[in-house]
Amino acid sequence: MSPLLDCHDLTVRFGGVTAVNAVSLAVDDGGDVVGLVGPNGSGKSTFLNAISGLVPAKGRLTVAGKDVPLGRPGAIARHRVYRTYQTPQVNPAMSCLENVLVASTDTSLRGVVGAWPLRPGMWRHEKRRWQEAAEALERVGLLDRANDGAAGLAYGERRHLELARALLARPRLLLMDEPAAGLNTAETSRLARLLRGVSAEGISAVVIEHKIGFIEELCRRIVVLEQGIQIAAGPPTEVWRDPAVMNAYLGEAL
Ligand SMILES: Nc1ncnc2c1ncn2[C@@H]1O[C@H](COP(=O)(O)OP(=O)(O)O)[C@@H](O)[C@H]1O
Ligand SMILES: [Mg+2]
Repeated sequence: MSPLLDCHDLTVRFGGVTAVNAVSLAVDDGGDVVGLVGPNGSGKSTFLNAISGLVPAKGRLTVAGKDVPLGRPGAIARHRVYRTYQTPQVNPAMSCLENVLVASTDTSLRGVVGAWPLRPGMWRHEKRRWQEAAEALERVGLLDRANDGAAGLAYGERRHLELARALLARPRLLLMDEPAAGLNTAETSRLARLLRGVSAEGISAVVIEHKIGFIEELCRRIVVLEQGIQIAAGPPTEVWRDPAVMNAYLGEAL
């Protein structure tokens, strides 16, 4: 069986800089979680950007065996692959609930036909969307902030809001860029527990993170980048002992 996500020799160049150099990574369907680690500037975010089509890239990308065109934002979302960002992307002018609801926009009941004769159906449908959005907020611990403006959220809370929005879109695969950044120890372990639950539901993920405990708790396998090159891959506890990995992290606080 082919992996859910299969990245083969992805390469991204910015002018003379090769930010990602022929990196391959595979994630299985049904809750597999792969960690992507490496020092700052090693190309981790750029790798996720390449998968998401946000930067021009070379190589081959398939989801569930189907080719996904590179360099086209949104192409991979059709396969229910969703992303959260290193800098959380929430709309500060909207409430938390509204920020989550935008993930489930449904056009099936739009237009004159949807708006008048099918109105009872539309209301039922809307009610379900609101319920699901509220459940997603509850899951990430933000239900009591549902009607507050997203502008008032702390950095870590914005990441949780982004996660709620991604979960509501019923992903098959989540791409997460430093989801635990800005969280304290208790918040980090709560997030790890939440993401383990997400994985147990069958949602797979690629997770970029610096926090070793968090990565070990979540990931079956990790891939280590240094200056755009994959220098190691395997189970986390083995990879940390690899001299090439220790060397890459020299001088970096983990
Ligand atoms: N849009 C861009 N234009 C030019 N250079 C970029 C761009 N995005 C990232 N880079 C460069 O690519 C390299 C990898 O960056 P990044 O993927 O953000 O690293 P990481 O996420 O591992 O910290 C860095 O040298 C960075 O300066
Ligand atoms: Mg980054």
